[in-house]
Amino acid sequence: MARASFCLPLALAYLFLASVVPSYAQNEETDQPELLYDVRANFTLRCELPNDNSLAYVWTKNDTNVVDIWDLKDRYKLEHGGAEFIVPRSVEDDFGNYTCGLSGTEAVQRWAVRGRAFTKLPANTNVVEGQKLKLQCKVVGKPYPRVVWTFSNASEGENASDVRALLGERVTLRRSAQGVEDGELLLDAVLRSDAGLYSCAAPVGAAGAANVATTTLRVKDMYAALWPFLGICAEVFVLCAIILVYEKRRTKPDLDDSDTDNHDQKKS
Ligand SMILES: *[C@@H]1O[C@H](CO)[C@@H](O)[C@H](O)[C@H]1NC(C)=O
Ligand SMILES: *[C@@H]1O[C@H](CO)[C@@H](O)[C@H](O)[C@H]1NC(C)=O
Ligand SMILES: *[C@@H]1O[C@H](CO)[C@@H](O)[C@H](O)[C@H]1NC(C)=O
Ligand SMILES: *[C@@H]1O[C@H](CO)[C@@H](O)[C@H](O)[C@H]1NC(C)=O
Ligand SMILES: *[C@@H]1O[C@H](CO)[C@@H](O)[C@H](O)[C@H]1NC(C)=O
Repeated sequence: MARASFCLPLALAYLFLASVVPSYAQNEETDQPELLYDVRANFTLRCELPNDNSLAYVWTKNDTNVVDIWDLKDRYKLEHGGAEFIVPRSVEDDFGNYTCGLSGTEAVQRWAVRGRAFTKLPANTNVVEGQKLKLQCKVVGKPYPRVVWTFSNASEGENASDVRALLGERVTLRRSAQGVEDGELLLDAVLRSDAGLYSCAAPVGAAGAANVATTTLRVKDMYAALWPFLGICAEVFVLCAIILVYEKRRTKPDLDDSDTDNHDQKKS
């Protein structure tokens, strides 16, 4: 008696859950686990829908059956009777919303797939004092996140802070040609004190881990660029002077020579 009264609520709870869970998975957009993949590496989606009747698996990306997606043609394989969707060599545009379902049934399993974002900057950047600076933070991994810039004037990158906090109004961040929000950093007239380490970071996932790329900015003295130019000017000037003097000296005796030559010829 005591046993039955204990089992009945459990059984009811089980039935309740069994009837509620599939419809929950089917209707709620929030029930969409995220899958982060590394661009160019492989990724695998495993369909866990119960499939006792050996129904055919149906895979979609962005609500389109994967067999109809030209971009995925010959780039994915299905294993375990279709329960596993594998992309052996992924590309940036593989990000999107994926589902698996069973042919003729309503249940679906969802994934939000996106590429892990990696940032890139050149190791070194040189600019002449007073000139414009333009830094491009390149990103691999879609959808592109908004990147965050930090600056440190110390050689080891100590005490790095947000660029806007340190350089204030002088710095402009804007969307890069690649389409990365804040991907381009601009400074109108570089000061010598702007030299240092510039980093752009892409926050990855909820874990808060970030991928960071850093460039070392060297600011050259204005005259450092001017001196070689003046040197070349001076060289050209001296060369012209030498040529002029030489030509002047040459042309006079030349005329005399030809004159005397002519005289000589007439004489002979
Ligand atoms: C997928 O990539 C992982 C490393 O990221 C590797 O260990 C694994 O062997 C790869 N699987 C296939 C099927 O290529
Ligand atoms: C679907 O995936 C593509 C990438 O292949 C992406 O550009 C697009 O924004 C996604 N979403 C929709 C609704 O098309
Ligand atoms: C995936 O679906 C969510 C809503 O469920 C939508 O906001 C998002 O734009 C979709 N992503 C893609 C790449 O289509
Ligand atoms: C670096 O910046 C700090 C202020 O943020 C300043 O006090 C310090 O002098 C600077 N160091 C150099 C080498 O410019
Ligand atoms: C970094 O900041 C600390 C205090 O905030 C200071 O003691 C230290 O000298 C700074 N380092 C550099 C390299 O500026």
